Amino acid sequence: MAILKIASMGHPVLKQRAAEVADPAAPEVRQLASDMLATMKDAGGTGLAAPQVHVPLRVLMFYVARDRAGEPAEADPGDSESGAGTRETSPFAVPLTVLINPVVELLGDEKDLGPEACLSVPGLVGQVPRYRHVRYRGLTLDGQELVREASGFHARVVQHEYDHLDGILYPQRMVDLSTLAFMSEVERAQRA
Ligand code: NI
Repeated sequence: MAILKIASMGHPVLKQRAAEVADPAAPEVRQLASDMLATMKDAGGTGLAAPQVHVPLRVLMFYVARDRAGEPAEADPGDSESGAGTRETSPFAVPLTVLINPVVELLGDEKDLGPEACLSVPGLVGQVPRYRHVRYRGLTLDGQELVREASGFHARVVQHEYDHLDGILYPQRMVDLSTLAFMSEVERAQRA
């Protein structure tokens, strides 16, 4: 596993539509995912898309930690790979999920405003409207199709990472740029 360099806002690779992965079973894809995971862990992110490591392919990954999940409804990713018996002890509301050539379907019109940050927009945080409910599908590294419905923070993470594949960063989704702030200042204000 290698820790890759993360592209920052302004780099062309973050502005383009990433290409479909032609052969999801290729060893190079597995290697990419492995390196992305190392990079995401090193940077302390909860999600990462391949364009963020200068690879313009439709690959993304994320997880949702239990303390980020918020409402209990989000703790159910709605698939069979996380059995009910393991939920009590798992620190993850949604386990690490790698998706190749994902598709996101919006369910309903409801949106929520919530804070987002991005490893490609370091140091900043902003309030971003996202659809509350989505359904997503994509291929896993094993070549299986994964389909899940997501709500709340889980849905937010998916929409954020998916946007990277279409060359969109979260500030482009913001409706009130006055909420864009340096995390250090937000933390300072919270301490005061
Ligand atoms: Ni991001």
